[in-house]
Amino acid sequence: MLNKTSNTTWGGRFEQAPDADAVQFNASLAFDHVLYQHDIAGSKAHAEMLARQKLISQQEAALIMQGLAEIEAEMDQGQHPLDYACEDIHMFIEHLLIQKIGDAAKKLHTGRSRNDQVALDLRLYVRKSADSIREQLQTLMETLNTLATNHQQDRMPGYTHLQQAQPISLGHYFAAYYCMFQRDGKRLDDWHARMNYSPLGACALAGSNLPLDRQFIAEKLQFSGIIENTLDAVSDRDFVIEFCSVASIIMMHLSRLSEDMILWATQEFNFVSLHDAFSTGSSLMPNKKNPDLPELIRGKSGRVFGHLMSILTVMKGLPLAYNKDMQEDKECLFDTVNTLSACLKIMSPFLKSLRFNTELMQEKAAGGYLDATEVLESLVLKGMPFRMAHHQVGQWVRKAMENQCSLAEIQMNTIEKKPFHLCTGMELQAEDIKNILALANEIRQSPKKFNKTLANKKLVMLFEKPSFRTRLSFSLAIQELGGVAVESIESSRKQEHPADMMRVLNGYADFVMMRTHDDGVFAKMAEHADIPVINGLSALYHPCQILACWHFYFHPFLLHSLFQQSVLLTVQQAQ
Ligand code: ARG
Repeated sequence: MLNKTSNTTWGGRFEQAPDADAVQFNASLAFDHVLYQHDIAGSKAHAEMLARQKLISQQEAALIMQGLAEIEAEMDQGQHPLDYACEDIHMFIEHLLIQKIGDAAKKLHTGRSRNDQVALDLRLYVRKSADSIREQLQTLMETLNTLATNHQQDRMPGYTHLQQAQPISLGHYFAAYYCMFQRDGKRLDDWHARMNYSPLGACALAGSNLPLDRQFIAEKLQFSGIIENTLDAVSDRDFVIEFCSVASIIMMHLSRLSEDMILWATQEFNFVSLHDAFSTGSSLMPNKKNPDLPELIRGKSGRVFGHLMSILTVMKGLPLAYNKDMQEDKECLFDTVNTLSACLKIMSPFLKSLRFNTELMQEKAAGGYLDATEVLESLVLKGMPFRMAHHQVGQWVRKAMENQCSLAEIQMNTIEKKPFHLCTGMELQAEDIKNILALANEIRQSPKKFNKTLANKKLVMLFEKPSFRTRLSFSLAIQELGGVAVESIESSRKQEHPADMMRVLNGYADFVMMRTHDDGVFAKMAEHADIPVINGLSALYHPCQILACWHFYFHPFLLHSLFQQSVLLTVQQAQ
């Protein structure tokens, strides 16, 4: 290929032979030879166009086409050792063609530059690679879909911050990855629609004065059209960068999935057992079975991200149009395709080989108070403001942890047996107060509608320092709703112990309403109560809060109606 004085392809103006190290440094054939099929496909389309445009004869075109077909078949069989003196794959094939068919081959490069040639080859290469990546994605999605379907009913803990959060199903887990890879496939489709335009005919940068038919080549090579701006056609590698970015996203998804499997395979998690065929042992520790495959996928994601960064960095400072720096895109792109493809290929069989310890997953999903959010939402559905419910369930979880029992047990105890100091930490939103007042108003407007609400219910009112107004308003409210009000003022029970008093009240009354600033006494009463006890006068919170809370824990309608009436009165008094 090299003669003594210069390179035969471009050496016309050179007097000195190139330096051997410089030749090697300059060459890309060692890696761009993988483009040979695409280079030949592009050349065939180009030759056909040249003949149609009468820039070469039909005979010359036929010779070129025949020669290229033979070279391709020979290269398929590895018959042509790479001649590194030929700078790149484009010159290597032209050199082989000249050897094979002689002078006709020297016309092939008419109306073409290596700049548009390489832009074309690279597009053909990455377009084809993406097709097979898309197929591999499809296979992986089918595997995930099967796993999602088979494990629909298998409950497991779902995690946030790697802390057990809420129960999910193993099927739900795999379905999430199905969705991610589905989006990745769509990303490739979008990218394909954007990149599928032919650069050929842009020549070095400015197009050609020859009557080329760019459209013909584009159609021949299944492009949607041509890249109109010739500078753009030869100078951008955004289609490579965008592909590498989609590849990086796919690798990121594969890596996360791998990470979970690695974690689940630990003795600590023990959610999954690795199949012998897809794991490795340790050269030192006979007990080990290592998840090398997902670890490698996780590791290789770093490499693919790196390629994306490399190409971005190569491109970022280049003046228009072509610069040799762009030759550095190839190894990154090729390795991205190969790495991604290898990872996708192994992921499906690896996943299929896993045995999931669904019993243990189920057991873990049942413990750990993962039902807390469900309980919270059930309170919200009953009408409790979200923040209040959150706080309440949080307290129940703490209690359940202290007592080493389930949330359900604590909840039952709390609701049915042990009223507790409801005033603590409750918050009531303006909206809630509005609703309560609206109901109270309704009761006031049509008391008849509610006059059976408290039928046969005895409500005992233990007031600290009741004003006549308060006593009257509460007593009348209870009576209007059909109940019986019994009042007691503090001075008359000075000597009585709250526990004793509560024991009696448990037997006679249906509810107790206190109005005291002494939280200690209230707590004692509540502690010994089998019936609802409420403090309607707290030093800490507005009675509205307490009333609203109360209603959620006990007979929702009865007390609701009753206490709303009181709230209304209280509010009226305050005005
Ligand atoms: N091997 C080169 C590349 O990969 C082909 C284009 C060379 N063009 C040029 N004007 N030297 O970018």
